[in-house]
Amino acid sequence: MLRVSRLSAGYGAISAVRDVDLEVRQGTLVALIGSNGAGKTTTLNTIAGLHKPSSGSVTVDGREITGWAAHRVVRSGVALVAEGRRVAPPLTVLENLELSAYSGRGSRTERRDELARVFELFPRLADRRNQYAASLSGGEQQMLAFGRALMTMPQVLLLDEPSMGLAPSIVDILFENIETLHRAGATILLVEQNAELALEVSDEVYVIQRGRIVSHGTAEEVRGSAEVMSALFG
Ligand SMILES: Nc1ncnc2c1ncn2[C@@H]1O[C@H](COP(=O)(O)OP(=O)(O)OP(=O)(O)O)[C@@H](O)[C@H]1O
Ligand SMILES: [Mg+2]
Repeated sequence: MLRVSRLSAGYGAISAVRDVDLEVRQGTLVALIGSNGAGKTTTLNTIAGLHKPSSGSVTVDGREITGWAAHRVVRSGVALVAEGRRVAPPLTVLENLELSAYSGRGSRTERRDELARVFELFPRLADRRNQYAASLSGGEQQMLAFGRALMTMPQVLLLDEPSMGLAPSIVDILFENIETLHRAGATILLVEQNAELALEVSDEVYVIQRGRIVSHGTAEEVRGSAEVMSALFG
């Protein structure tokens, strides 16, 4: 479904990711884990078209989308829930979701059905549909950012550290939602600094260190590698 080949990207003279290869097969939940500054966000942002790669390729269902602008990447079926939850604060929950849907792929009927599904997945958003996004708690804003991504009807969902800065009880709810989507057949690439959490829910794991993929396997394989665990936890 999503294939990244020898992807490199940086900031000016600084190289942030180098020759990253990864694949997310249809219906799988794949985690990309690594410590601060390892290159996780750069990888996701480059896939999502927010950052230009210096070399390499990204394909979705065999279709090359490398270097496409972010709005075209969304239309090709890739949605990013960015680090730091991007929502539009002066708009209500419902307006945020509707606006996002227009940048996506769904027909009018599909958008309406998806809205019902998002409200089912996040009852807190349904209860607050007419509340301004600015007045939502951090956890609710993360749910809204998630809902906005779903409203574009993605084939692949990219999640950048959904747990960041949230209370454990909210993280539990979000991860239950991620598992619900996974069980329903969604294809997900999850970036997490919390490796334990990521290993619990994912089918496959890639470990990134200083911009390079240093390990790849099932959650059990990665968990069993002492080298990997020491790279992650020091
Ligand atoms: N806008 C930027 N300008 C210059 N360097 C940057 C920029 N954004 C990121 N970097 C650098 O690129 C490298 C990778 O950063 P990135 O944000 O991808 O890491 P990350 O794995 O997402 O880290 P974190 O877990 O802290 O979110 C780091 O060395 C970082 O300092
Ligand atoms: Mg990051």
